[in-house]
Amino acid sequence: EFIEGRADASRTMIVIAHRGDSGRAPESTAAAIRAALAAKADMIELDVQMTPDRRLVIFHDDRLNRTTNGHGLVVHRRYQDLLRLDAGSWFGPRFAGERILLVSQALRLIRPPCRINLELKRTRRPDALIRGVVRCLRWTRTAHRVLISSCDASLLARLRARAPHVARALLCRRRPGPALRQAIRVGCVAFHPHRSLVTPALIERAHAAGLRVHVWVVDRPAVARRLLRMGVDGLFTNVPAVLRSAAEAGG
Ligand code: G3P
Ligand code: MG
Repeated sequence: EFIEGRADASRTMIVIAHRGDSGRAPESTAAAIRAALAAKADMIELDVQMTPDRRLVIFHDDRLNRTTNGHGLVVHRRYQDLLRLDAGSWFGPRFAGERILLVSQALRLIRPPCRINLELKRTRRPDALIRGVVRCLRWTRTAHRVLISSCDASLLARLRARAPHVARALLCRRRPGPALRQAIRVGCVAFHPHRSLVTPALIERAHAAGLRVHVWVVDRPAVARRLLRMGVDGLFTNVPAVLRSAAEAGG
């Protein structure tokens, strides 16, 4: 896939469904996961937050307002309350009844060979969050298929101390040079910069240190091809089927 135009045609680029297939189904729900699997995404990215009763849920925004019929902060609501919310109708009536997922439910839905990227959102309780995630990977026996990412390098350092075998990636929104050095320091296998930060030199430095480069968020095939030629290893996208078929058609 995505080999057209590459200097080294033996390398491939993975398609990572951002919040599931969020172009075709309500983000972060079982419907979005199923659509991403149908689109043959190589990996599915999902955001993780912890409720006050220490349940790990898949949810992107701080607030419930945009993607559910609830309101207020996710991290202020107990799991039983979240479970009552409709997380699908905002996207379309046929998705009414989609629920906020537990991380364990999402992990079980994503069957091999598809892999999983759990993005840990910033939290005031990093140790509890990491303990919960590591326990969940153990229960579901999915650790070998999961990549844990965060924009907080200290969270990744704690993860490394508790579960060194779990693959880590540092997310970067600005200042990619220092961020890449941090990623190397905490033993990441991948670096996740925003697309505006990507340069051939950055990719080269990451590769020289043995890190893969996964770039977010790219929905246009032309942009995907440009990044591919630069040598990126994967793309986060809201439209996995579009990038997959563009790749199969040779762009
Ligand atoms: O992990 C890549 C991307 O998801 C980071 O941004 O805000 O969509 O979680 P966000
Ligand atoms: Mg994310």
